Amino acid sequence: EKGGYPWFMLKEIAEQPQAIADTLLGRLGRYGELVLDEVRLSDDDLRVVDKVFVVACGTAYHAGLIAKYAIEHWTRLPVEVEVASEFRYRDPVLDRSTLVVVISQSGETMDTLMALRHAKEQSARVLAICNANGSTIPRESDAVLYTHAGPEVAVASTKGFLTQLVACYLVGLFLAQVRGIKYEDEISSIVADLRTLPEKVATVLEQMEPVRELGRSLADADRMLFLGRHVSFPVALEGALKLKELAYIHAEGFAAGELKHGPIAVIEEGTPVIVVVPPRARELLHGKVVSNIQEVRARGARTIVIAEEGDEDVVAYADHVIRVPRTPTLLAPVVTTVPLQVLACEIADTRGLDVDQPRNLAKSVTVE
Ligand code: F6R
Repeated sequence: EKGGYPWFMLKEIAEQPQAIADTLLGRLGRYGELVLDEVRLSDDDLRVVDKVFVVACGTAYHAGLIAKYAIEHWTRLPVEVEVASEFRYRDPVLDRSTLVVVISQSGETMDTLMALRHAKEQSARVLAICNANGSTIPRESDAVLYTHAGPEVAVASTKGFLTQLVACYLVGLFLAQVRGIKYEDEISSIVADLRTLPEKVATVLEQMEPVRELGRSLADADRMLFLGRHVSFPVALEGALKLKELAYIHAEGFAAGELKHGPIAVIEEGTPVIVVVPPRARELLHGKVVSNIQEVRARGARTIVIAEEGDEDVVAYADHVIRVPRTPTLLAPVVTTVPLQVLACEIADTRGLDVDQPRNLAKSVTVE
């Protein structure tokens, strides 16, 4: 049932182009408009929204962090993102014009469910992004946008995560469409870019052999750092989480701009540092990250750089370059996450670990 792959995780990584295509299916209209009738929130409900909260756990929380950049940019609505276990025990400021987006692959995560009840008690509208049809979280929400990733068996979320990202983009663009915003041209070009994502992820997957080889060479590392800026910061967090949970290697993700405020002190000769570089079109952001690569390398780091095709600026400072197709900044996490999944999987496998069932973890966390 693993379809010829040694691990479910590898099968699920390979299914990502299809999972993204299925999640987009029927939701992008012929004229670049979004068709989300299934969501069950009226245009009037959405027009009164003046604030968005995104609440989730683990990998789904990382999808929420990325959603913030996109939704704020497209809609000009303020977005807060929080882990469910914190949100549910505090007193967040919510009312009926707050939209709370809860993200859960399984639809059964206890903390996320309790956070959704906490939000509803304060009369906020709750929209669930969920993969498991008919599970508790979408049943209790006012509205639902299903991801169509199909069943995810491996404990570590992969296709679940990429389809959560796609669903977050759809929600952001839909809000922008209903409310009318100033970036109309940008929105239609982003919709066109969304359609190209399955093909781009497929291209990344075709180029994974060198990444596997790199993974084998990193299997003895005792720690690793992940750096990114803007949407690549949550990608760095996700890369670090995957490595911790699968390979049991201590890993941390940092906002690259925070380096000088502390993290750079832990770098020693040979410390592997993975840097997720923004598209070259974002000149300022790109230049800053290239400087960060130089800075960590000057302190002895072994630099592993994820950069778009044709970005030659990184070559001089990179011990290894992993290429991804050129993708607009806000959508780039869909492609840049994939090598990090493959890397964590290969490192864990080389260490002789059970990739699909890491120690101490369960697929669905239905207890606190
Ligand atoms: C990490 C992972 C977990 C889940 C988290 C939330 O790879 O799978 O961090 O993302 O437990 O699970 P769901 O999305 O089912 O609510």
